[in-house]
Amino acid sequence: MPRCSNRQVVKTTAMTAGCLFAGMGGFCGGLQKAGIQTLWANEKDESAVRTFLANYPKVRVVEKDVRQLSVDKDKLPPVDIFTAGFPCQSFSHAGHKQGFDDERGSLFFEIIRLIREFGERKPKIILLENVPHLAHGDGGKWLQVIIAQIQLAGYWFSKDNLRILKTDQVAGLPQGRERLFMVAASIDAFYCNDFVFPESKLKLRPLTNFVKRGKKARPSDYLSPDNRYYKAIVAQMKMGNPQSIYQLRRYYVREYPVKCPTLTANMGGGGHNVPFIRDRWGIRRLTVEECAMLQGFEGFVFPQEVSDNECYRQIGNAVSLPVAEQLAEACLRFYKSESRCLKRVVA
Ligand SMILES: C[S@@+](CC[C@H](N)C(=O)[O-])C[C@H]1O[C@@H](n2cnc3c(N)ncnc32)[C@H](O)[C@@H]1O
Repeated sequence: MPRCSNRQVVKTTAMTAGCLFAGMGGFCGGLQKAGIQTLWANEKDESAVRTFLANYPKVRVVEKDVRQLSVDKDKLPPVDIFTAGFPCQSFSHAGHKQGFDDERGSLFFEIIRLIREFGERKPKIILLENVPHLAHGDGGKWLQVIIAQIQLAGYWFSKDNLRILKTDQVAGLPQGRERLFMVAASIDAFYCNDFVFPESKLKLRPLTNFVKRGKKARPSDYLSPDNRYYKAIVAQMKMGNPQSIYQLRRYYVREYPVKCPTLTANMGGGGHNVPFIRDRWGIRRLTVEECAMLQGFEGFVFPQEVSDNECYRQIGNAVSLPVAEQLAEACLRFYKSESRCLKRVVA
């Protein structure tokens, strides 16, 4: 039995997509809401694939390491849009910043390889996601490499075609999350790249819409008073607003009154990485469902076989779904009518 019901509304356009590093499906969900059909997805993590398929049962998922993925052997049909939220650990400000020298960072080159494997039928638009530090790391060299590689693969792409989007501003979700998005346009399909990124447009929704303090969570969600951090968290909560969210940082407990902190994949590491709240039954972590909602995964299904830790990790890894939706709609506008750059009108 799934943990919650799936209530997705589907509209359709003629555009198609393929999702690399698909995770639980932030990009796929956003594309679907904009009416763009995902024909195939690739992801190597078995539990992420389970969640993905529980929500997008019609999408063909090739479950394997992207390095083994082949356009011919895996019979991947050409698509209009390629999405890739490639692994960010090696580009993150918080990590070791090894960039392309790290095996995970080098996975970026798999995107380029697959684009090339499509030859003349390469995707018209490439939509990439990563952490903001990617744009500045190693004195800007990481970005130079990415720009050069994408250009050499036959795309219009420069520093003008990337933007940091904030989940709270673009989607109105009360989560402090910033991600770098990059959009490249095929030289075969467009005269130039004047892609217009979505503007900040939605009013911030209150945390109370997302955090269900009136409902008792499962016992395992509550922090035991024996826990070594319990006293520190209680002390900070006593000083702060009872409606706030709290997070244990390395040396202190931080209060978040308006927006929850960035939900990250390390929430899946257990321990105290998931933000806390107080309700009338005690101090508890945000539930999987609350975290999913704070990423915009409304009515999403998590299969029972997927553990809590895996759910938290998938949610922290995901692209905020409504941000992906706004980007998908911007791709549609760019692709169809409003762009001066389009070479030929498409259906
Ligand atoms: C940042 S998450 C992607 C989020 C996703 N793009 C979305 O739309 O929500 C990165 C994903 O890449 C996957 N991944 C990492 N290394 C991989 C590899 N070698 N092959 C395939 N997938 C990989 C991870 O399991 C993770 O789900």
